[in-house]
Amino acid sequence: MRHLISPLDFSVEELDELLRLANDIEKHPEKYAHACDGKILATCFYEPSTRTRLSFESAMLHLGGQVLGFSDAANSSASKGESVSDTIRVISEYADICAMRHPKEGAPLVASEKATIPVINAGDGGHQHPTQTLTDLLTIYSLKGRLDHLTIGLCGDLKFGRTVHSLIHALIRYPGIKFDLISPEELRIPSNLHDEVLVRGNIPFKEVVRLEDALPELDILYMTRVQRERFFNEEDYIRMKDFYILNKEKMELAPKDMLVLHPLPRVNEISVEVDDDPRAVYFKQARYGVYVRMALILTLLEVEV
Ligand code: CP
Repeated sequence: MRHLISPLDFSVEELDELLRLANDIEKHPEKYAHACDGKILATCFYEPSTRTRLSFESAMLHLGGQVLGFSDAANSSASKGESVSDTIRVISEYADICAMRHPKEGAPLVASEKATIPVINAGDGGHQHPTQTLTDLLTIYSLKGRLDHLTIGLCGDLKFGRTVHSLIHALIRYPGIKFDLISPEELRIPSNLHDEVLVRGNIPFKEVVRLEDALPELDILYMTRVQRERFFNEEDYIRMKDFYILNKEKMELAPKDMLVLHPLPRVNEISVEVDDDPRAVYFKQARYGVYVRMALILTLLEVEV
């Protein structure tokens, strides 16, 4: 039995296979419409979500399976003091696979150690968000045709943004990847990621404050929101929240074939006027999230089609 807790739980070869399967699902959805007949997905979300929870549910429904779960810890027995370990032991009796989001880093890992069904980390605190990474990789692979030899600008809250942390871990395994880390000083990537992953791994990167300085050389611009829920005080959040706003004027500095990704939700960091630019692919990216989660469910349940 396999779980997905970290983006590194799959080798590059396994990831390639998963992305190919997701592409096939996109092209031939009818082939997969009954692949999970009789199977149940549990979504245990202790933190708010729109895309991750609903794309998992959409994925399982498109595979012919069914879903159950909770979308708020307050409506579960966690509010009465039940541990994640006990909850997952019970969920293992009700479902065949579980996607879990939790504000505490490591909670889905703890769950996977007690579960008798595959557990998927759907985001744990400011730590990792591996299925968003799968979504991001599928989007880049499908629209750029490769995952190697790319210059990627990661912009915004690089300190608390778990999608950025997971994406860096995943992308450094491909050759020719360069990063432009675009953030205010206070929101730079955590030092362990900086020192132990990028510096130690000899990955080319630079840290810049002005988005305008990075834009002309990027293949991909990955925008992120400032993570209000991870700030210790509101004043700091208010000072930081509108630090970057991507608008039409700034898009004129970018290459014609650059893609703009965003895990969403967006707050102010991308002006709505950018949405009509063909380079803005963040809503397409949300659709790829369904295909890749379908591929992930099939892979973890070892369903052959
Ligand atoms: N991208 C993402 O994780 O969105 P949700 O928080 O809405 O799930």
